[in-house]
Amino acid sequence: MAAEIIDGRAIAAAIRSEVKAQVDELVRDHGVRPGLGVILVGDNPASRSYVTMKEKACAEAGIYSEEVHLPADASQEAVISAIGAYAANASIHAILVQLPLPDHIDEHAVLLSVPPAKDADGFHPFLVGELWSQGTADFIPCTPYGVLELLKRSDVPLVGARAVVIGRSNIVGKPVASLLLREHCTVTLCHSRTRDLPGVAREADILVVAIGRPKMVDASYIKPGATVIDVGISRAEDGSLVGDVDFESASQVAGKITPVPKGVGPMTIAMLLQNTVNAAARAAS
Ligand code: GUN
Repeated sequence: MAAEIIDGRAIAAAIRSEVKAQVDELVRDHGVRPGLGVILVGDNPASRSYVTMKEKACAEAGIYSEEVHLPADASQEAVISAIGAYAANASIHAILVQLPLPDHIDEHAVLLSVPPAKDADGFHPFLVGELWSQGTADFIPCTPYGVLELLKRSDVPLVGARAVVIGRSNIVGKPVASLLLREHCTVTLCHSRTRDLPGVAREADILVVAIGRPKMVDASYIKPGATVIDVGISRAEDGSLVGDVDFESASQVAGKITPVPKGVGPMTIAMLLQNTVNAAARAAS
């Protein structure tokens, strides 16, 4: 039987309209308009396009946004100084440094310089530690936050479920594991060196794939009826977008599955807006 498709675009649209209502209320009742400060370094076309989409989404939700665009050869000090200017700017409640940064810049040092009180992505080690130790943090990384909302809004049972996460990145795999643990899943975090990866994946009621290998996960990785969340996105030779999951094969076995595109992708932006509004609400209270 073919799997039910989890419509990330529709769920993201619902969240964006909730966010817009929260923005209207903040402006009306507190005179506070949420503000996002974006820093883009260099001319990576994918990064440029993501930043443009984020700014457009802000405008649609009534969120103020500002961009600092530095050249590809900008110094690390210049990036950190742009972060400092946003940190001191009261109309900016959340700061986003688009990744990846050029190779000559130490990404960890830059992310450390974003104040945790304004870290739209939730990448600062203080926030990472809060999420693991307290189960929550003022900012939750946007893509993992989006994965959790997809599961919750699709009525996927979480308590006691076996969750397998493939991919151990700081941006997706680790925070997804942390969030699912908080929701009382039994979590296994796998990676490229995991032994018998298909066998481990087949134990999952919830399988989250974020390994960056197009179409790697086929039906042989999936327990019949499992929920499959595909975080991967790459461009195939014919120019189409493909995920880490072989959708045609996997959707024959899964119970619920996200497509690529229109799955996790739209959620990342929706949760960035939510993080920004939450920060403004904290500033207003
Ligand atoms: N590049 C790829 N994913 C992300 C993300 O979630 N946040 C930022 N800032 N850059 C990214």
